[in-house]
Amino acid sequence: MARDHVEYLKCQELTLAPLMDNGISTGMLVCELSRDHITSAVSYYGKIAPQWIRRESGYFKSACEILVLNGDLQLGNTVISEGHYSYLPAGALQGPAISENGCELFLFFEGLPKFIESTQSCVGCLEDLRISALDARGMPWGPPPGHEGRPAEEAPVGLKVKFLREDPKTHAYTILCWQGPDWSDPDIERHSIWEELILLDGDFLMGRMGKITGGTYIFRDGAIAHGPQVSKKGSVWFARGPAAIDFDYQRVSWANELIDKYLSADHLFDDTSDRGPWGRWRG
Ligand SMILES: [Fe+2]
Repeated sequence: MARDHVEYLKCQELTLAPLMDNGISTGMLVCELSRDHITSAVSYYGKIAPQWIRRESGYFKSACEILVLNGDLQLGNTVISEGHYSYLPAGALQGPAISENGCELFLFFEGLPKFIESTQSCVGCLEDLRISALDARGMPWGPPPGHEGRPAEEAPVGLKVKFLREDPKTHAYTILCWQGPDWSDPDIERHSIWEELILLDGDFLMGRMGKITGGTYIFRDGAIAHGPQVSKKGSVWFARGPAAIDFDYQRVSWANELIDKYLSADHLFDDTSDRGPWGRWRG
């Protein structure tokens, strides 16, 4: 695997440093969450100060996904507001960038994040795939679709999904996933692809890894078994993968005991401890 296994990082506890471009600081503060050692694809959690500006127009050589957690980021004429998502295909023109109120955001680059000054998109840019500013937090939830190894009717009860993006060729996906209160899935799962996950809101227990809360980041090769999974207050995940996800399940004898223990651990919960750092995404 070209990216290391990350499980867990807590974004709001990380040290941020200036994002550099050709030896010059962009003014954006970021923390690298994971990096592909072969392709240089990289995921950042970042902060931008109020009145930040990049006056140049241009494009990134690599496709870029943006999730704005609070505040605002304007690219050209498009304002990406709190809770909004953007997908810029490789070579897609961005106008000058400004943040009026500052923001916290995630940035996901499919390769080296090199900015090229230009007044037009790169030749060959797949402009049709651009998603300018999708209201990820406000759009409605839908039922989980069927996947290889998990038909829709076998999805755990209490699961909902929002599809932010699906590549028409590779079926690479970016979704939000919701689990209701007292939700659980006793099975251990594996996938044929990697998955990248951020718990935006709520609480979760991921198998033997311990309880987590909003702001937690995971990058996991699909071959790494994970589960059982359980949430007491409910949870919302931001999730990405490089192709259509599939499921390979395994049953373990100790799953239900672990789930019951977590759901009855009232001392681990109060009214405030499981609120995410970026407001309420559970609806
Ligand atoms: Fe998984």
